[in-house]
Amino acid sequence: MTSSEPSSSSSPAVVHHHHADHGEERTLTILYATETGTAQDVADRLARLCRNLRIRARVHSMDAYPQEELINETVVLFVVSTTGSGHEPRAMTPLWNMLLRADLPEDLFEDLAFAVFGLGDSAYEKFCWPAKLLSRRLAQLGASEICTRGEADDQHQLGVDGALGPWMQQLSAVLAHIFPLPEGVEPESPDSLPPPRVSISEAPPGSQLTRKDPLVTDREYHRATVICNQRLTAEDWYQDVRHFEFSFDEDVNFKPGDVAVIHPEALATDVESFLACIGYANIADDPIDIRHTLIDQSLPDHLPEITTLRELFTRYLDINAVPRRSFFAVLKHFAEDELEREKLEEFLSEEGADEMYEYCQRPRRTIREVLEEFRSATIPRDYVFDLFPPLRPRQFSIANSVKTYPRKIHLCIAIVQYRTMLKIPRRGVCTSWLAGLKPGDQLQIGVQKGFITLPPDSKTPVICVGPGTGVAPMRAIIQERIHDGTYENTLYFGCRSAAKDHHYGKEWEHYASEGKLIYRAAFSRDGPEGVQRTYVQHLIREDSSRICELVDQKGAWIYISGSSNKMPAAVRAAIQDALISQGGKTEEEAKEYIVRMEKEGRLIEECWS
Ligand SMILES: Cc1cc2nc3c(=O)[nH]c(=O)nc-3n(C[C@H](O)[C@H](O)[C@H](O)COP(=O)(O)OP(=O)(O)OC[C@H]3O[C@@H](n4cnc5c(N)ncnc54)[C@H](O)[C@@H]3O)c2cc1C
Ligand SMILES: Cc1cc2nc3c(=O)[nH]c(=O)nc-3n(C[C@H](O)[C@H](O)[C@H](O)COP(=O)(O)O)c2cc1C
Repeated sequence: MTSSEPSSSSSPAVVHHHHADHGEERTLTILYATETGTAQDVADRLARLCRNLRIRARVHSMDAYPQEELINETVVLFVVSTTGSGHEPRAMTPLWNMLLRADLPEDLFEDLAFAVFGLGDSAYEKFCWPAKLLSRRLAQLGASEICTRGEADDQHQLGVDGALGPWMQQLSAVLAHIFPLPEGVEPESPDSLPPPRVSISEAPPGSQLTRKDPLVTDREYHRATVICNQRLTAEDWYQDVRHFEFSFDEDVNFKPGDVAVIHPEALATDVESFLACIGYANIADDPIDIRHTLIDQSLPDHLPEITTLRELFTRYLDINAVPRRSFFAVLKHFAEDELEREKLEEFLSEEGADEMYEYCQRPRRTIREVLEEFRSATIPRDYVFDLFPPLRPRQFSIANSVKTYPRKIHLCIAIVQYRTMLKIPRRGVCTSWLAGLKPGDQLQIGVQKGFITLPPDSKTPVICVGPGTGVAPMRAIIQERIHDGTYENTLYFGCRSAAKDHHYGKEWEHYASEGKLIYRAAFSRDGPEGVQRTYVQHLIREDSSRICELVDQKGAWIYISGSSNKMPAAVRAAIQDALISQGGKTEEEAKEYIVRMEKEGRLIEECWS
């Protein structure tokens, strides 16, 4: 279920079209906030649109933008994704807090024209919430929204492209009006090949050996050694879930709820065949020097200046991603075969959208596989960053307390593997790489704050709901609290089978036997055929009187983690019903109570798809 608008909001009004003063510099600012890079990619595309309209775009991640400059801007395009349960991305929080200040005058941004493009997933309850709130708040502060807010939905069969294409057309018309071109100057055709964002030249032989890996010098990352990579699920079980342990030579500080950030590598054999396929095999190991020439277009984070093509496609550019429309838009310029070019043009046409979906998105065909079919393309080296998306780091909730296991990080990871209509099974890039690591292997691991935090008063009871790998952050919470001598802990765990995928079952039963944990497990497929399957929400309903007492009388905190499908909403509904049936609240009161818990940070979700 999706709530389409935050409460008491109104639809954005297209107030009036600003007109850039004659002679005013043709400049605007693009501010983006991203968690996993999609909003940054959209910002790149908006910057390119501006360039085609001969407008100079300054592009900043919101956290790298000096807030005090916003007051002097005339036109700003905001690109904002959604994370957590309707949260703004971390990079947006400082700017957002500033905008929320109660003492800001209502006409503060009367000279500002803005447009907002939100990214979200309508499978979540709070679809594109930060984008909606941002446009509403800017309008309250006197700014004019020049273009109806765009909202990209992961559920759209073309992903972000579904909403972005039409929105960019609308924006383009508005910008052309605000920044009319001088007579005789034409906009660049959107079909033309843009200049490449980098210039690549040969570096002196051996020079990459002397440079430092930026990931190694980044202080957020620590050198980790694998000490355990062990399957948790039974060997004959359909899903491969692993317990990993990493050790560090130095102290690593993190709290329960924090998240490990891991930069995966593509498999050497995949990179080898890919390099051969695109004709780079002979130059794959030559040191190259990368110069960023088009600064309104981003490059992958932690990119070294000197590297090799092999290293680029192993660590920085994603050959296993499902290609977006923009990939085909660049590729078509390099295909030499007439038929291949026609096919690419067809994919890019309005009528070809469904065909592209059937070819790429539905079967989850990868860039590597696509290029094996479009073999006539000769890709100039300088264009690799325009064609291939960055290989993004992946996040995993830390599954241990550092107090219980100093200088260690444990992770509980489901190895992503699934089938589509293609013969070869699809594999997750990062998890399949991790699955292949052996004790003694080394890698860099970053630590990031998650949404989960512990109650300030350790006596506050906690209720942890973590089915499947959602149990990972719960293990960190429970270990830490037990280490601190706090035993009012309840865990709801769910899986299919007590014998096959009961992650850390022995550990929970041990804590329970010592009176340090109330452990409730729902084994959904262990019951007899035909009987309703039991999930965590059913156990919460069975325990409604205890739940109500913990929450309403003892002020318990609730954590929900795991798959973002129907589970979080079903759990919230079960808690709400407990407050009604056992706490004497009306439905309205119980609903409000839950909303308040979320606002106060007493009910926290950390869910992923
Ligand atoms: C804050 C946070 C904490 C997390 N903690 C954990 C954790 O503790 N343990 C854990 O296992 N995961 C966790 N995840 C999820 C994990 O980051 C992702 O599963 C990650 O994408 C795996 O990386 P990968 O490179 O192996 O998969 P990718 O190559 O990124 O592939 C994953 C993608 O494949 C597609 N996909 C997957 N299954 C199917 C299917 N059946 N049908 C169609 N498409 C499919 C989806 O598009 C999915 O996004 C967490 C995520 C976040 C955001
Ligand atoms: C952990 C997680 C939580 C999310 N929560 C929401 C949400 O509450 N509402 C929503 O509309 N989209 C949500 N999304 C979807 C993202 O906003 C969407 O995938 C977006 O394209 C990501 O953009 P980014 O890569 O720039 O961060 C979530 C995605 C993830 C991975």
